[in-house]
Amino acid sequence: MCIVEVIKQRRRNFIGEFIHSFDHANMLHHAASNITNIKNIIREIYNNRNMYGIEEEAEASSGDAEQAYQLLERRRRYLEEDDVVGYVDDTETLAKKLIQGTPQRDVISIIGMGGLGKSTLAKKVYNNSNVKNHFRCQAWVYVSQEYKIRELLLSILKCLIPISEEIYEMPDEELKRTLCENLKGKRYLLVMDDIWKTQVWDEIKDSFPNELTGSRILITSRIKEVAMYASKNDPHFLRLLNENESWELFCKKMFRGESCPSNLEELGKQIVRCCKGLPLSIIVLGGILALKEKSYFTWSKWLCRDNLIQDKTQCLDILGLSYIDLPRYLRSCFLNVGVFPEDYEISARQLTKLGIAEGFIQGTCNREEEDVAEDYLEELIDRSLIQVASRRSDGGVKTCRIHDLLRDFCIKEGAQQKFLVVHSNPKHSLTNKPRRVSILCETSQCLSLDHWDPSCARSLLLFNSQLNFDTNHWRWIYKGFKLIRALYLKKLVSSIPKQLGKLIHLRYLMIDGDKYDRLNAIPASICKLPFLQTIDIKFCVINWLPKDIWRMKQLRYLKISKGIRLPVPRITMYESTLSNLQVLSRLVVTSQTVSLVTKCRFPNWVQNSAATF
Ligand SMILES: Nc1ncnc2c1ncn2[C@@H]1O[C@H](COP(=O)(O)OP(=O)(O)OP(=O)(O)O)[C@@H](O)[C@H]1O
Ligand SMILES: [Mg+2]
Repeated sequence: MCIVEVIKQRRRNFIGEFIHSFDHANMLHHAASNITNIKNIIREIYNNRNMYGIEEEAEASSGDAEQAYQLLERRRRYLEEDDVVGYVDDTETLAKKLIQGTPQRDVISIIGMGGLGKSTLAKKVYNNSNVKNHFRCQAWVYVSQEYKIRELLLSILKCLIPISEEIYEMPDEELKRTLCENLKGKRYLLVMDDIWKTQVWDEIKDSFPNELTGSRILITSRIKEVAMYASKNDPHFLRLLNENESWELFCKKMFRGESCPSNLEELGKQIVRCCKGLPLSIIVLGGILALKEKSYFTWSKWLCRDNLIQDKTQCLDILGLSYIDLPRYLRSCFLNVGVFPEDYEISARQLTKLGIAEGFIQGTCNREEEDVAEDYLEELIDRSLIQVASRRSDGGVKTCRIHDLLRDFCIKEGAQQKFLVVHSNPKHSLTNKPRRVSILCETSQCLSLDHWDPSCARSLLLFNSQLNFDTNHWRWIYKGFKLIRALYLKKLVSSIPKQLGKLIHLRYLMIDGDKYDRLNAIPASICKLPFLQTIDIKFCVINWLPKDIWRMKQLRYLKISKGIRLPVPRITMYESTLSNLQVLSRLVVTSQTVSLVTKCRFPNWVQNSAATF
């Protein structure tokens, strides 16, 4: 453009040149400032590349079969471990409190700072055989700061009875009554883990019948007042681990059942002392050192780092250290976990697909992106930055969680780097130009693009399931988030507009509706999205996929509604081959589908769950 303008200028005659010389100077100035801007952008891209380790990903992920085997071994070892240290007296005391005492419904609480092991202790008590034998039914619910009463009620009910469609569709008040009826006459134990507000008790207590059956509610909280509000009983204050317990926990994490070499013991104990008995810090530190060389020299370097930190602030800063110690290819994957709500059970598949869509995870010549993603997840688990919530039958991670303190760290660090913004309080203002946006609260403030610029966002996750998603929200997405690669909506919509086809960078689309929602069409424009890899839509009632689905050469994962049918492909082989498709779920298998498979229309197809004939 600039060159064309310069040539035009030269063609002008002298007077014209004179008249236009101001223009010319202006244009040159404009060009110079454009060049400076471009240089700045390039510098920023270069810095980001370094910061997020983009170039390293390919090198670092060049795992071979040997590496994969070692990972599997590590995974197995992990499964065999029983990592809980100490708490023998605490378990006994709490079990007694639950089993003995008043026949009325009673509330017992465990109090302590974050990362101290309240949930771990509660789980140990919950699984104690005497406790299990004593109660007729047991239920566990994670409450967290941003709880939704409906989700709490459903989670508790899920522990007691299968959730039918009818229950799912009940309004909250009826759910409360159903829960109460299911607990009536029974001796129940309910754990409410991680309560932050007294209000939750007010909202839910009437659902727990107060009879003379000896039922108990076990609460864990960081805040004593919250526990005292539900019961006047003295709370159980959890203590920090003593030196021996701290050392035992560190060794379990570090040496996985083997003993510590004698030349490292004294130094190791000094390092562990820096954690001041806080289990979360100990396991995170153990997770870091387990991956380092077990030598006096390496460990003594760490002792110096820890001492420095101890001087400045408290032991919780060790969590920050674990981030600094991450290889660059893992940093973005870890920070990105911050986009999920507190205490959320994260699907490993969703996490890895998001990472792939964002480009944090890349395949290598002999490993698929999904395999590399799984390795990364295991590495974060090994470093204790992520906890496993459930595993698949083959040992792989099915769901995981992140500890609140680590999540807080991701959000803080992510906001500082403009890596992500988690919007959980409608009163807080929004940061401009974030790279990733997670909205956990009401969206009306974010909806106005006048005061907020999300144009650089590469992913948008909306977790507010109360939200009534309408055409305004869609307009807001395709106008404001033009660069997004990943879109996750917790609330299903009644329709998806054809403008979805404008989001040309989209790689991941997941709409996680509930049974109230009924989406009855997917626009044909979806097939124009050239990079789309994942389409995952829950509770959708369409029967046919769009005709041009065969054009979607990048599609790897397709899961829509039960009983979906493939359209008849066009004539040419190329046009009718989904060459990257690996998972095609809930498909109606007809003679036509069988013929498509035999004709190798999905050469990489590995899974079709819930197929119907
Ligand atoms: N006694 C223990 N033995 C082994 N690991 C422990 C122990 N106590 C805590 N941990 C580990 O430390 C981490 C933090 O523990 P936990 O989640 O129970 O803390 P918490 O007190 O519930 O924290 P929060 O207040 O944030 O909910 C977990 O990964 C847990 O496995
Ligand atoms: Mg907890």
